[in-house]
Amino acid sequence: MGRQKKLIIGNWKMNFTVGEASLHLNKLENAIKPAPNVEVVLAPSTISLQPLSLQVKPKQFKLAAQNYYWRDFGAFTGETSIHQLKGIVKYAITGYGERRYLFGETNKDIRRKVAAALRHDIIPVLCIGETANERQFHETSDVIYDQLISGLAEVTSEDITKVVIVYEPVWAISTVADAEICTPDDVAAAIKEIRHQVEYLYGKKVAEQIQVLYGGGVNENNVGSYLLTPGVDGLLVGSSSLRVKSFADIVEKANILGGKI
Ligand code: PGA
Repeated sequence: MGRQKKLIIGNWKMNFTVGEASLHLNKLENAIKPAPNVEVVLAPSTISLQPLSLQVKPKQFKLAAQNYYWRDFGAFTGETSIHQLKGIVKYAITGYGERRYLFGETNKDIRRKVAAALRHDIIPVLCIGETANERQFHETSDVIYDQLISGLAEVTSEDITKVVIVYEPVWAISTVADAEICTPDDVAAAIKEIRHQVEYLYGKKVAEQIQVLYGGGVNENNVGSYLLTPGVDGLLVGSSSLRVKSFADIVEKANILGGKI
């Protein structure tokens, strides 16, 4: 906590054609100044990953997959395996709210995806968080517990510190209807709970070391308050990562704060 570089992941979701993604990367390359205190990660659509991997300057940005399948090869029409993404991405996002709730991914799918990424030396970015309904019924702790326990079920004590965890309350994702703001106090409480569960599973040292991010409604104006929230090691940024100036500002602020905390 606070000792590593801040991790800022821009999740472009299903936006940009391949050509537009290349242009967006080019604009980011020009707009983002060197940020030694930040690891900046871009997650374009799967179709853009390979061409962008040839364009990207690895010192400036790393790439992440938004989704992947956990088996290596076989009769799985339409899927891209993590094995096929090896050498292209450093990170792979899994458990993202939209995958769970729009595409029906279960805790079991996500557990296998986390294990598959680790098997191929790719860092899994495990997203967990409650829906608006679950929040209304005060089930946040239960959801964190269930999604964490099952997401990490195949992760050994040697591998656990390679996993990145994101607290991403579904009700705070900016594109969700009636999205609400998750206050830094709520973020702090959820992340404390996450580290508590990690401590229970893997011990105190791991709970302090593991990188935990926040995602949901982050923009250039509130980035500071989230990064100063206790326990937050970085941010998963959706909509604001599609706007060059907003994302560049977020990285710049993270770089300044990352040098201080
Ligand atoms: P948002 O998306 O930043 O548009 O709310 C959240 C996310 O990608 O975690």
